[in-house]
Amino acid sequence: METLTQPTQSPVQSVTGNWMALQSTFPVPGLGVLPVNAFLLKDSEPLLVDTGLSALSDDFIDALASEIALTDLRWIWLSHTDPDHIGNLDRILDLAPNAQVVTNFLGAGKMGLLGTGSPDRFRLLEPGEVFEAGGRRLHQVRPPYYDAPETMGFFDETDRVLFAADAFGALLPEPATSIEQIAATDLREGLVGWSTIDAPWLAQMDQATLAGILKELERLDPRHVLSGHLPVAHGIQSLTDILRTAYGRGSSSAVNADHAAEVEAVLNAR
Ligand SMILES: [Fe+2]
Ligand SMILES: [Fe+2]
Repeated sequence: METLTQPTQSPVQSVTGNWMALQSTFPVPGLGVLPVNAFLLKDSEPLLVDTGLSALSDDFIDALASEIALTDLRWIWLSHTDPDHIGNLDRILDLAPNAQVVTNFLGAGKMGLLGTGSPDRFRLLEPGEVFEAGGRRLHQVRPPYYDAPETMGFFDETDRVLFAADAFGALLPEPATSIEQIAATDLREGLVGWSTIDAPWLAQMDQATLAGILKELERLDPRHVLSGHLPVAHGIQSLTDILRTAYGRGSSSAVNADHAAEVEAVLNAR
C-alpha cells in the first residue's frame, strides 16, 4: 500500500442502526498512521461525538452533511478539548445553530482559554450525571486512560455502545477502516505504542488497580467500542486483554525505581 502523506477522510460507516462512524486517518511520520474518529448518533435528538480534524474541515463537514441536515443537529458531545477532537467545533456551531455542546466545567474553562466554542451554547454535565438525548441515556464513563482531565467517555445503554475517547487508540502500519483488517500483532503493538505516547503514566500504574478498572469496563459488556483513535471494535475483551498484559507494575518498588532513575539523571547532570 502507498504511504499516506496527508490526512484523509473515509466514507461514513454504520456501526449500529443509529450510530455512524466518521473516520479519518492521520499520518505520523516514522510511526505509521493514527485513526482520528468522530461519531454520529442519528436519533430523535441527533448527537455528534467530537468534531474531527481542522485539516479535513471541508471533507468532514461534507461527510456529516451526507448523514444529517446540520440544522437538525441537537448535541455535540466533546470528549475533551484536544485539537484532534474539537478541530471543527466553531464551524459546526455556525452551521448547526440548534446544537448545544455537551462538556463539563473544566472542558468549558479550557475552551474559554482557547477562545473556541460559545459558552451560551454549553450544556455542562455534573460528574456522574446521566445525559439524556431524546430519551436515550448516555452514562458518563471515565476511560481507563486519557490525556486530558476533562475527558468524558460514555456508555449508551440502548445500543450498548461504549465511547472511550482517546483510550484504545492505536498507531497502525497502514490505514484501516475496520478492526478486522488489523493483524493481532499490529493491533497489540499499535495500541501499546500509542498509549505509551499518549498516557505514559499507564506504565506506572499498579497492576491490581489497572486490572480492577478493566474488569469494571468489561462488566458493562459493550457490544461496540468507539475510540477516537481505532476502527470500531466489537466487544471489549480483546482490547482490555492487551492492556492487562502490557501494563501494570507488580510492586511499588518498580515504580520507585523509575522515579529514582529520573532523579539520578537530573542530579548527575548538574
Ligand atoms: Fe487527547
Ligand atoms: Fe485524541
